[in-house]
Amino acid sequence: MTGPAGAPVTLAVVGAGNRGTTHAGWALANPDRARVVAVAEPRDARRDRFAADHGLPAAAVVADWRELAGRGRVADAVLVCTQDAMHAEPAVAFAELGHHLLLEKPMATTEAGCRRVVAAVERAGVILAVGHVLRYTPYTALVKQVVDAGRLGQVVTAQHLEPVGFQHQAHSYVRGAWRRRDTATFMLMAKSCHDLDWLAYVVGRPIRRVASFGARTHFRPEHRPAGAADRCLDCPVEPACPYSAVRFYSACLERGPGWPLDAVVDDDYTEEALLAALRHGPYGRCVYAADNDVVDHQVVAMEFDGGPTGSFVMTGFNAGGHRRTRLFGTHGELEGDGETVRVHDFLTGTAEVVAARTPGDATAGGGHGGGDWGLMDAFVRAVATGDPAHVLSGPRTSLEAHLVAFAAERARLDGVVATVPSAGGAVEPPGID
Ligand SMILES: NC(=O)c1ccc[n+]([C@@H]2O[C@H](COP(=O)([O-])OP(=O)(O)OC[C@H]3O[C@@H](n4cnc5c(N)ncnc54)[C@H](O)[C@@H]3O)[C@@H](O)[C@H]2O)c1
Repeated sequence: MTGPAGAPVTLAVVGAGNRGTTHAGWALANPDRARVVAVAEPRDARRDRFAADHGLPAAAVVADWRELAGRGRVADAVLVCTQDAMHAEPAVAFAELGHHLLLEKPMATTEAGCRRVVAAVERAGVILAVGHVLRYTPYTALVKQVVDAGRLGQVVTAQHLEPVGFQHQAHSYVRGAWRRRDTATFMLMAKSCHDLDWLAYVVGRPIRRVASFGARTHFRPEHRPAGAADRCLDCPVEPACPYSAVRFYSACLERGPGWPLDAVVDDDYTEEALLAALRHGPYGRCVYAADNDVVDHQVVAMEFDGGPTGSFVMTGFNAGGHRRTRLFGTHGELEGDGETVRVHDFLTGTAEVVAARTPGDATAGGGHGGGDWGLMDAFVRAVATGDPAHVLSGPRTSLEAHLVAFAAERARLDGVVATVPSAGGAVEPPGID
């Protein structure tokens, strides 16, 4: 609960997996500003490790978020870090109990669910921050500063690439938790709702209409090499396969705990544990023999409010790294690679290159270029001061980004140009998620 003025903000963490641990890590590094006071996590090893890291008494450690919610208001804020399909229910429950919320993306896996979350937050009058970490990087601040200062004139066209990376694609979207629409969500929502949100943010206009194409082109049974086994450990052609789980995760093991190995082993970072996981678990499967159905490449063409246009490409077939962007304005052009921004001025014919101070890399393990801790810093500041303006995307803005993703996916599936529905007005949906 809120203490005397200046006391650290208290946090309860729902889901002590990768994201819950990362967000809570910020509190460990900033004990004068935030303190974790409770956790809900069903997996024993994760729960015990998390409780020990944060010095939580047994009474503050439970296996299921419902048990925590049954206790009423347990902290100033709750960090909802469960898997995609388990966001809306705890978000609504904890908001109704008066907690401010940091909610991982997606807000929900259906449009009705997203609207329900926004309605609950607005009814309760609590602060909501959605995990749109790209907004909070020093690099984004630099891009935004260039655009807002008018150095490009009016942005007329935007071109944005999300290079997922072939190993990240195989890990998360072929073998891992985001490989299926029915158990997680569609790829554009899972991976690129950040980018759709980011484009609207830096261009400074909402996206109004979208068209989209994309497919699961490569990770299909018909592309399985001759003689390949169902599991990499048994596979005679594994040495020649760029998607070898053995090669990838063995290299990860050498680097130590954390993403992406934390999804593969259960807090046991030994060679034996890894071999057992690759032998029996989902991450040892041949990428051509999994039960995945999400796309491995997708493009979205978009029209911003007032007429500017944009194109977005998400693809799994690259080495990874930061997103890359070009913004074409009436008076200048910006090229950005996630770390450095180059601004060409049409009038003077000069180009200026400015480097952002980018901590870490673009991955979850690298803190998303400073976005992870930037988000926590902003959220805790908002809760501590009671000023939601510190959060860079309010509930309606986050809803808007999700509505763009739903519209683009509809456009892809139906082969149409889709108009993005309004995020304004009454948001309460007719039914339950
Ligand atoms: N913002 C970003 O950049 C970003 C990056 C990666 C993931 N995500 C999102 O964050 C969310 C979590 O991802 P993750 O990689 O941490 O997943 P994860 O699987 O590592 O963590 C989820 C945790 O929730 C726990 N859980 C399951 N049921 C629960 C219950 N009833 N009560 C409490 N906890 C429960 C699981 O045991 C697990 O430990 C996902 O929705 C994902 O899409 C966001």
